[in-house]
Formats: sequence, C-alpha cells, structure tokens
Amino acid sequence: MVKVLIVYDSTYGCTERIAQTIGRALDPTQQVSTVRASDAKPEHMVGVKLLIVGSPTQGGRPTQAVQEFLKAIPEEGLLGVAVAAFDTRVPARWVGIFGYAAENIFDTLKKKSGIPVMPPEGFFVTGKEGPLKEGESERAALWAEMLMTAMARSGRPRANG
Ligand SMILES: Cc1cc2nc3c(=O)[nH]c(=O)nc-3n(C[C@H](O)[C@H](O)[C@H](O)COP(=O)(O)O)c2cc1C
Repeated sequence: MVKVLIVYDSTYGCTERIAQTIGRALDPTQQVSTVRASDAKPEHMVGVKLLIVGSPTQGGRPTQAVQEFLKAIPEEGLLGVAVAAFDTRVPARWVGIFGYAAENIFDTLKKKSGIPVMPPEGFFVTGKEGPLKEGESERAALWAEMLMTAMARSGRPRANG
C-alpha cells in the first residue's frame, strides 16, 4: 500500500471537490490523506511515496497557500517521492497566456527532486466561482486511476532487465 498525500487549496470549493474525488478514487487501494495547503505540516510528509498538489489557477499561478507549501519543501526534499500536479481553470482560451497553476506546481515539485509520473492536468470550471464543468469529476477519478497505473509501471523492473 502506497502512502499518498494530496495537498490542495480552493477559494470557491471546486478544487476541493477534485482533490476529494481523486482521494476517493485512490483510497480503496492506498493510504490517502487529503489536506488543505494552509493546514499541511512537515509531519504529513513522513513516509509519503506519492505527493499530489492541486490549486485553483489564479493569475496563471497557484494560490499563495500552495506557493507557501511548496516553498517550505527543502531542496531535494522530494528525493524518492513520486509527484503529480493538477489545477482548476476556466476554459477561455485567452487566459492561457498567463499559464496555469498545475504546470507551475509540477516544475517546483521536480526542482525539489520529485519523480514525475504523469503530466500535470487541468480540470475546467464554468466560471470564476464554478461550478465544475460537467464530467470533470469523472475525469479526475480516471486521472487518479491512471496515476496509480503509471506509479506501478515506474516501480516495476523492466522485462529485459
Ligand atoms: C483572482 C483570480 C484570478 C484568476 N485567474 C485565472 C487564470 O489566470 N486562469 C484561469 O484559467 N482561471 C483563473 N481564475 C479562475 C479560477 O481558476 C477559478 O476561480 C477556480 O478554478 C475555482 O476553483 P476553486 O473553486 O477551487 O477556487 C481566477 C480566479 C480568481 C478568483
């Protein structure tokens, strides 16, 4: 059983819903804790093999609380830890010029020596205060399953040695 920590922030509740959906999708097979970024403490990281960080995109970046959580991780603090990142975002194409939170989070997790297992993912909301677009919760559950498959593959020895 893999110890998984999901750290998230949410202003209007959409990212929280995605974080909980991912947590529920993983929970039957893994030991999962889901924690708001402002409540995350160093002891939450003890023994964690997969760290998933999610945030609403605000001005092309994660929220202050998520930025502070990431900043508090020491250099090389994620050695041996698989990492994944997600965000919520609006579907308007023009906002893309600012970038998205998930890519930003993912880059920081990798800089702290985390092992990338899946590309960062964005889930869509219909407007600034949500709600989530139809089907996005289901897509989040699927993403969680794909993540575990990718984890299992990355840990498996290659057939040809
Ligand atoms: C101050 C602010 C800035 C935002 N900037 C962006 C942005 O740059 N790109 C984007 O796609 N959405 C942006 N949004 C919309 C958020 O992504 C949306 O509020 C969020 O996905 C909702 O998630 P939450 O319910 O977890 O807070 C912004 C929202 C706020 C409040």
